[in-house]
Amino acid sequence: MQPAVPGPAPLPAPWWRSAVFYQVYPRSFADSDGDGIGDLPGLREKLGYLELLGVDALWICPVMRSPMADGGYDVADPRDIDPLFGGLRTMDELIDEAHHRHIRVTMDLVPNHTSDQHAWFVAALAAGPGSPERDRYYFRDGRGADGSAPPNNWPSIFGGPAWTRITEADGRPGQWYLHIFAPEQPDLNWENPDVPADFEQTMRFWLRRGIDGFRIDVAHGMAKPAGLPDMEVPQRPVDDTHLVVHDDNDPRFNNPAVHEIHRRLRTVMDEFPIAVSIGEVWVDDNTRFGDYVRPDELHLAFNFRLAETPFHPGRIRDAVDNSLRAVAAVGASPTWTLSNHDIEREVTRYGGGDIGQARARAMIMLELALPGAVFIYNGAELGLPNIDDLPEAALQDPTWERSGHTERGRDGCRVPLPWEGEQPPFGFTTGRPWLPMPAWWATATVEKQLERLDSMLSLYRMAIELRSVRPEFGGPGLEWYGSPPGCLAFRRDGGLLCVLNATDAPITLPAGEVLLTSTPITAGKLPANSAAWLIQ
Ligand code: GLC
Repeated sequence: MQPAVPGPAPLPAPWWRSAVFYQVYPRSFADSDGDGIGDLPGLREKLGYLELLGVDALWICPVMRSPMADGGYDVADPRDIDPLFGGLRTMDELIDEAHHRHIRVTMDLVPNHTSDQHAWFVAALAAGPGSPERDRYYFRDGRGADGSAPPNNWPSIFGGPAWTRITEADGRPGQWYLHIFAPEQPDLNWENPDVPADFEQTMRFWLRRGIDGFRIDVAHGMAKPAGLPDMEVPQRPVDDTHLVVHDDNDPRFNNPAVHEIHRRLRTVMDEFPIAVSIGEVWVDDNTRFGDYVRPDELHLAFNFRLAETPFHPGRIRDAVDNSLRAVAAVGASPTWTLSNHDIEREVTRYGGGDIGQARARAMIMLELALPGAVFIYNGAELGLPNIDDLPEAALQDPTWERSGHTERGRDGCRVPLPWEGEQPPFGFTTGRPWLPMPAWWATATVEKQLERLDSMLSLYRMAIELRSVRPEFGGPGLEWYGSPPGCLAFRRDGGLLCVLNATDAPITLPAGEVLLTSTPITAGKLPANSAAWLIQ
């Protein structure tokens, strides 16, 4: 009889599979030099805070060279750090110190477009129609006898047409170029071989410097439909204040050829096995979403269902089920997020004030109880709400101008973080913060919240710690538990039970040892708008 051949030892799960990522919007995090805009040395000084919070990794929004027409998502040189944020050396220092504290560092990369100040775009303008320089972007002649109408009817995400007409070198009105976002963000043509080659060079540049991975901006963009056909332009209701409007059939996004691009990028990632790629993928359909995280494409993709879901038990359950189903089919890991720099903060979405706070507390416990990677947007751990009454003169999001002052844009979720002290700018800067900070945030500072056990920050700290040390959070699956109307309960493979009370009355908890609740148990019951973790 042949002796049984032992199989290879199972590979350890990659670090990112169940990591807690902390998203830093660098402009708003901490300013070290008094110019009112957060920077990398400011972030570095606060790494001790992030260690205390207990996060495993950072996702840093774009810090590459940029004229900042869209907060850095308009990149003029992808292989340098903008002086505004401290320059390249400060990134190296940040990576070193974060690693020293066992925090991994991922950064945003922007493949869909460049800045209009990028050397390629400047060369394309100078080179003229039909040139190889123009072929790196989407330059087209206009429609109509004199070419004065845009090549198609696509709108820009930020309002107005997605095309801008240029003036040619001889002074005459010339071709149009495509920009799905702001005019300062011309779309790259990924069919031109220079484009993927340059992006691969950028990935290797950062990975060799020690970066642990990338958040890939607009990862469902990049490939455009052949011939750039007109689209059915959706009529948005006038009172629609949602910042992100998307539709799976929007021809500007989610074209099949995008998967070829991801497969190519994955071969670069595989040269650095520790690193992770996380795609921003606004796609609803589970099968189409799952396609992005097939074994030879992205490692992870943001699933925004939970962030789009109101505080309603049935809808939350549906979001969780769908997010799990979308990745299960392809053997990938789920991701969870309640907010980011593009969407209204959760405290506000859930009703604002005390009720919004209570629900946000419950939802972070629900989120941290789920299997997979969790993304926390800076300031969520302080329970910051959206600031929707910023003075018009202060607004900086390109949406404000592009919409003809009808949509305020995303600045309300980007107000700088309050660190300490009694009045603005609460230690964020010694100068004038780039967006005004409300005086009533005096009670929301990190300093104040660290002192109080019942603060949002203390809840985050306790919950993240429990999640990382308790074996009950183990295993990839979950099972729904029977629960009274208006409630929700699920059990993790490892034995953790998470209960959400979304009713307006207290409920009796199932039997078990209570690990943590988002609101103190009163008279033996879990109060309304609260969550509990139990082990049985
Ligand atoms: C992504 C970013 C957003 C940016 C856009 C254009 O959606 O999250 O902030 O404006 O891409 O780069």
